[in-house]
Amino acid sequence: MGSVRGEFSQLVSLEVLSISENEISGTIPPPLYNLSSIKCLDVGWNRLQGNLPPNIGLTLPNLQELHAEGNQFTGPIPVSLSNASRLLLIKLGNNSFSGSVPMNFGRLKGLSKLYLGGNRLGIGKSHDLSFLHSLTNCSSLQELDVSDNRLSGSLPDFMGNLSTQLRILWFGSNRIFGSIPSGIQNLVSLTTLRMEYNSLTGIIPIGVVKLNELRRLSLGGNELSGEIPSSLGNITQLYLLDLFGNNLWGTVPSSIGNFTFLQFIHLDNNNLSGTLPRSLFSIPSLTELHVESNSFTGDLPFEVSYSNALGRFSVSNNKLSGEIPSPLGNCLSLEYLCLDGNLFQGLIPPTFANLKGLRLLDLSRNNLSGMIPQGLETFALEYLNLSFNNLEGELPKQGVFGNVSQVSVLGNSKLCGGFQGLQLRPCPIQVSKKHRKSLASKLKISIIIVVLCLVSLSCFFTSLYWVRKSKRKPFAVPSVEDKLRRKPAAVNKSRMKRFAVNKLRRKPVAVPSAEDSFMKLSYAELSKATGGFSAANLVGTGRSGAVYKGFLDRYKTVVAVKVFNLERRGAMRGFMSECETMGNIRHRNIVRILTCCSSIDFKGNDFKALVYEYMPNGSLDKWLHSDGQEQLQRNLNFLQRLNIAIDVASALIYLYRRLIIHRDLKPSNILLDNDMIARVGDFGLAKFLSEVAQTRTVVVMGTAGYIALEYGMGSKPSTQGDAYRYGIFLLEMITGKGPTNDMFKDNLTLHHFAKLALPERVMEIVDPRLLEEEAEVSQCSVNHINTMNRMGDCLISMVRIGVMCSMESPRERMDMEVVLTEKNAIKDLYLGDEIHQDKQVIRSQLLCEGPSYISHSLDIIGSYAEKDSN
Ligand SMILES: *[C@@H]1O[C@H](CO)[C@@H](O)[C@H](O)[C@H]1NC(C)=O
Ligand SMILES: *[C@@H]1O[C@H](CO)[C@@H](O)[C@H](O)[C@H]1NC(C)=O
Ligand SMILES: *[C@@H]1O[C@H](CO)[C@@H](O)[C@H](O)[C@H]1NC(C)=O
Ligand SMILES: *[C@@H]1O[C@H](CO)[C@@H](O)[C@H](O)[C@H]1NC(C)=O
Ligand SMILES: *[C@@H]1O[C@H](CO)[C@@H](O)[C@H](O)[C@H]1NC(C)=O
Ligand SMILES: *[C@@H]1O[C@H](CO)[C@@H](O)[C@H](O)[C@H]1NC(C)=O
Ligand SMILES: *[C@@H]1O[C@H](CO)[C@@H](O)[C@H](O)[C@H]1NC(C)=O
Repeated sequence: MGSVRGEFSQLVSLEVLSISENEISGTIPPPLYNLSSIKCLDVGWNRLQGNLPPNIGLTLPNLQELHAEGNQFTGPIPVSLSNASRLLLIKLGNNSFSGSVPMNFGRLKGLSKLYLGGNRLGIGKSHDLSFLHSLTNCSSLQELDVSDNRLSGSLPDFMGNLSTQLRILWFGSNRIFGSIPSGIQNLVSLTTLRMEYNSLTGIIPIGVVKLNELRRLSLGGNELSGEIPSSLGNITQLYLLDLFGNNLWGTVPSSIGNFTFLQFIHLDNNNLSGTLPRSLFSIPSLTELHVESNSFTGDLPFEVSYSNALGRFSVSNNKLSGEIPSPLGNCLSLEYLCLDGNLFQGLIPPTFANLKGLRLLDLSRNNLSGMIPQGLETFALEYLNLSFNNLEGELPKQGVFGNVSQVSVLGNSKLCGGFQGLQLRPCPIQVSKKHRKSLASKLKISIIIVVLCLVSLSCFFTSLYWVRKSKRKPFAVPSVEDKLRRKPAAVNKSRMKRFAVNKLRRKPVAVPSAEDSFMKLSYAELSKATGGFSAANLVGTGRSGAVYKGFLDRYKTVVAVKVFNLERRGAMRGFMSECETMGNIRHRNIVRILTCCSSIDFKGNDFKALVYEYMPNGSLDKWLHSDGQEQLQRNLNFLQRLNIAIDVASALIYLYRRLIIHRDLKPSNILLDNDMIARVGDFGLAKFLSEVAQTRTVVVMGTAGYIALEYGMGSKPSTQGDAYRYGIFLLEMITGKGPTNDMFKDNLTLHHFAKLALPERVMEIVDPRLLEEEAEVSQCSVNHINTMNRMGDCLISMVRIGVMCSMESPRERMDMEVVLTEKNAIKDLYLGDEIHQDKQVIRSQLLCEGPSYISHSLDIIGSYAEKDSN
């Protein structure tokens, strides 16, 4: 800085000065404050110290934007800022400013963003919030953040007189007491209302439900009482509802099921009672549900299985009773499941064996009995607590059961065996067991006999049927459909029956859900849905068949139908593989199969088709390489591409946790839904790792350009192969050039092309269209420069990931989990100052919408989630 000092005074007409994100320390040289022409001063995210000069607003009268956030500034916020009457934006967050917030900002008529969060503002007197009065004169105010300070006092009534353009209001982590003024209902543009971690009392004002645009409502960690307003469901846009840690009582209104977009619900640590409303589980996007430490009673409704996206679910420390519903085992996205501290009894449902993605399972302090279901030892569980139940039988030794620090089985006197560190008594080698065994074998034999009889009978009838029906097909081969229909039989039958009946009563014509997965659709029905597989409905053709768009009358839903061309080699296998792999997979970033159709067409030929959810935005391929005819304005900006990269990484990790490899990842197999969320599709080549281990011969599979080199050398398919494809896909998305582009020949591959550009020349290889559409250009273009710089850094990181994933040697390739963590870090970096992160607990949300979801840690889950944050 010293050397620059002398030159400042010569820059008399300087309008924009940006030295942000440079690790500059020391104080700002005083001559800088004399550059009266400056419109934008950006010194954010350095290590600057000292005070802002008291007369800053007088010496910089033309100032429009002041960015000084993320430094170590101390002292008061200069009152003179209000003299710089053109100010539009003031960002002073994440410093150590102290004293009061100036009471005269109301003079800044154009002020639209005021960020003061993360300082030491407030002098502990009850008029700390008086500045709000003046702000009511700022009729353009859109964003106000004073969170994480020491502001005391109660929220004034005239808060409702703030600008109706206000979108973000953030008072979290202060010392605010008193009630929430009802005037808040006037702030009709609010999308974010955050008052968490204060000492607010009184009720949640009913007027809150008038805030139609609200997407995030955070009132957790206060002392609010009363009931949850029953019309809360009127706020249909809400995606996050935090009411945890208050004194709320009464029941959860069933209108909560109206929230179509709700992803996060935190109602834990209140005095709520009654039963959990069934409608809670019909919220399609629900990802996290915390209701622990309340007084809920009754059963856990079996409707919980409708929550396909549910990843974290805790009902700990309530008074729930009855059996754990076995359909809970259908919530395949579950990662954290806490049912501890309730009155559950009966068995741990055997369907839990489906929950292969579980990382934490706490069933302690219930009255569960019976054996531990098989399969838990194969999960990637990091924590399993079965303490204080009445479980019996032999404990496995493998997996989570082999690590004393990850498993707890205390207080189950009938358990035996297991890893010796758990100090259970050894299992007796019982005579009775032998006896039981012989009984069992007798039973087995008789069952086998009965089954054999049935099979031969059915074979007889079926072959009779086939002989009559068609001379070409003398043998009855069990169809895939039969195989699939047999699957649900594993589930407890009596419960299933009740389940189905109830379900029908509840949703007569619902969009197909989990249990309908294998709904039966005939050739005729699909033919009708697609207008007789008409060319007009053709949306694409692939290696194994054609994809049509169709409308299913019966379900009132638009679907995509992939018809397999059975004459093509491998088509049949592709159908089976996709049907089996995808049948019970549910993930936000994976295309869902609604059903597999195995039928006969009108001419009597075999007909195999898969029915998927329809993805209105088509494949990523079309967006990256818009072919000549399609002159639609299709383009993806940087942030969209980054989000897609994160989505795809999430999907791959989910698959790996289930030991599935995709083997054909490429842009044409990545589809975009209505909200431009990416979903991986086409599992025709997918395989379970377990199958791979058994194969001897290796057939090279996949699409040219996306096949990892080791396959050419006879390696077996592996997760690293998918990592390679991911790397290539990433580079393709950034450069806009596919691996088979004409420019890649001789020894130049996409991988080398990208590697050579690292790091200085990355901007030269970037798809120019990625740079076209730029984020919000600020008044003074300072932000533009910042954004471009930040984007440059991010692109370098992304290309680096792409190159590392596509290394020639599989061992050198990056682990997907690391990729995802880095991607999220990149995104945080890019969105940088837009996100003011909560200092209390930060948890970056891996699989969920929103740049970075910040949550609280009143629950035990918090400590386990730390692995996700960075
Ligand atoms: C600056 O603003 C204050 C009121 O906040 C006013 O009293 C003072 O006269 C202004 N100074 C100038 C030089 O305009
Ligand atoms: C708002 O502005 C008007 C004049 O523009 C002024 O009379 C009034 O005192 C201001 N109110 C506050 C709260 O600053
Ligand atoms: C809010 O504004 C209205 C009209 O502008 C005014 O009548 C009312 O007194 C104001 N309320 C407060 C508490 O200042
Ligand atoms: C909620 O919406 C319903 C239906 O639109 C309406 O009748 C009701 O008055 C609304 N409730 C509130 C408190 O605005
Ligand atoms: C636990 O369950 C058994 C039946 O499995 C029942 O007899 C017993 O009363 C239950 N205990 C409690 C405390 O609910
Ligand atoms: C398992 O749960 C019991 C009861 O809630 C608790 O006492 C114990 O500490 C837990 N075990 C571990 C390893 O956290
Ligand atoms: C047991 O679990 C702990 C904590 O998750 C982990 O650090 C440790 O490596 C594990 N030990 C073994 C032998 O797997």
